[in-house]
Amino acid sequence: MTTVETAPAGPATDAPTRPWWRDAVIYQVYLRSFADSDGDGIGDLPGLTARLDHLTRLGVDGLWLNPCYPSPGADHGYDVADYTTIDPRYGGLPAFEDLLRLAHERGLKVLMDIVPNHCSVAHPWFVQALAAPPGSAERERFVFRDGRGPDGELPPNNWTSVFGGPAWTRVTGTNQWYLHSFDASQPDFNWRSPDVAAHFEQVLRLWFDRGVDGFRIDVAHMLFKHADLPDWPDLTEYNAHQQNQPEVHDVYRRWRRIADSYHRDLTLVGEVWVPTVGDLAPYLRPDELPQAFYFDLLLCSWDAASFRTSIGRGLDQIGSTGATVTWTLANHDVHRTVTRYGLVEPADTPVQNPARLRGGVDAALGERRARAALLLLLALPGSVYLYQGEELGLPEVQDLPDEARQDPTWFRSGRTEHGRDGCRVPLPWRSDTPTYGFGDHASWLPQPAWFARYAAEDQWAEPDSTLRLHAEALHLRRRLPDLLAGTELRWIEVADRPDVLAFRRGDLTCVTVFGPEPFTPPATWGDVLLASTGSQSGQLPAASSAWLLHSVHPNPAA
Ligand code: GLC
Repeated sequence: MTTVETAPAGPATDAPTRPWWRDAVIYQVYLRSFADSDGDGIGDLPGLTARLDHLTRLGVDGLWLNPCYPSPGADHGYDVADYTTIDPRYGGLPAFEDLLRLAHERGLKVLMDIVPNHCSVAHPWFVQALAAPPGSAERERFVFRDGRGPDGELPPNNWTSVFGGPAWTRVTGTNQWYLHSFDASQPDFNWRSPDVAAHFEQVLRLWFDRGVDGFRIDVAHMLFKHADLPDWPDLTEYNAHQQNQPEVHDVYRRWRRIADSYHRDLTLVGEVWVPTVGDLAPYLRPDELPQAFYFDLLLCSWDAASFRTSIGRGLDQIGSTGATVTWTLANHDVHRTVTRYGLVEPADTPVQNPARLRGGVDAALGERRARAALLLLLALPGSVYLYQGEELGLPEVQDLPDEARQDPTWFRSGRTEHGRDGCRVPLPWRSDTPTYGFGDHASWLPQPAWFARYAAEDQWAEPDSTLRLHAEALHLRRRLPDLLAGTELRWIEVADRPDVLAFRRGDLTCVTVFGPEPFTPPATWGDVLLASTGSQSGQLPAASSAWLLHSVHPNPAA
């Protein structure tokens, strides 16, 4: 395999007019599971700061921090009690300021997570709302309604919570109920209240003034509900009254103006779960969000035709707004890629709900496929988000003891849905300590013994490891001008091999073998620059990808 000099950390593109985020690779830090510096079993900011080398060595352009504001932790930070500061358990504001400064010194961007759909029941506004009478200004910031039935004993409508059970909780001793699209501890804001809109604009400015480079926006499509809160006729289907209302676009137009007013290329990345890519595209109009995750590809099974259709759909429909696609295959809400792609039993389980899979997994096969998917993803035009632990090839922990589970989905489903804890188990850094280098004491979710095999330090020392593949691909990607700066993607039709996906971007060809038969690319595609198997051979085995370059030379950027 041809090697290429390691590029220094820095912006992903050298074109000054192209915002950095259009092609950036961002590493998602699920903080409580990253590294624990003070031995309380929960990851924290000093733990992350001490391990920034991992990110620089990996070659990412920045990081996205899951919420680390003060929070009771019912949904591990997505129940925010105060949007203006940092939870002392994570090190408080001083630790955040250290992280920001040191990350910036290394050329890493820092994105925070903003949670505008709901807060925590511990947020002072909600405490005040409960203490205030029905119809008061305090209650107007949330969605309180009288219940149905003679004594208001039935919820105001039939909506359900994303985590299971009704979306309403009755205020004790009264006939009023409040709406919570997630856990009962996460009351939904009323975005028709001017207080709410004004508060979040202040919060954005506060953190932008402190120097952050952008925000990931939690459930960005949910802020507004149908004004009349009508029942939804079929709750087995997407409830179009509870989300994706037209008014939400005005919020993002205002937020975009705020971000742009800083002249620092700040980004806003929406988590927008809507039924079709056609529904997603309007969020990315030039005066709205710069970015929104493209979940369509995350929902595809390991299948060449599905991948090709989804990639094409993204490039066409997102591209038509002028935005680039924000690719991702994993995050803290879905099963890990190794497990999704390695699911063999039942063999043809559709990946309709990537957080609900259960079954037999061939982890070795899953890891080969996940490595292949990585090269494919990093060759696409646009930006890429990588979830922590994916670079280690970690499988989902499917067999957590029930008593250890913490996801509200587990409790609200009557302990039938495992939920998302299995992708949140604290990272293994070393193979030779009881917590695998995570911290000094047992971690908040137990790590299985097999985590030792995935330890980061061992993988740095192993040339063919999944971690080294990530680093090599990321550093190479920075040196290949055709992978940045928007060079168009052209599909290559491969005769008689529907399981082989190949496309070209300038001089670079990316080829992925989805099926069980090996494939030898024609010599005209160039020489292998990087292969997901680590092999230098011209023949690609099953479940692998390679990058090929027309004329390979040691410094492709030269
Ligand atoms: C988003 C987050 C998820 C959280 C939910 C409620 O989907 O990614 O982790 O539970 O919103 O805030």
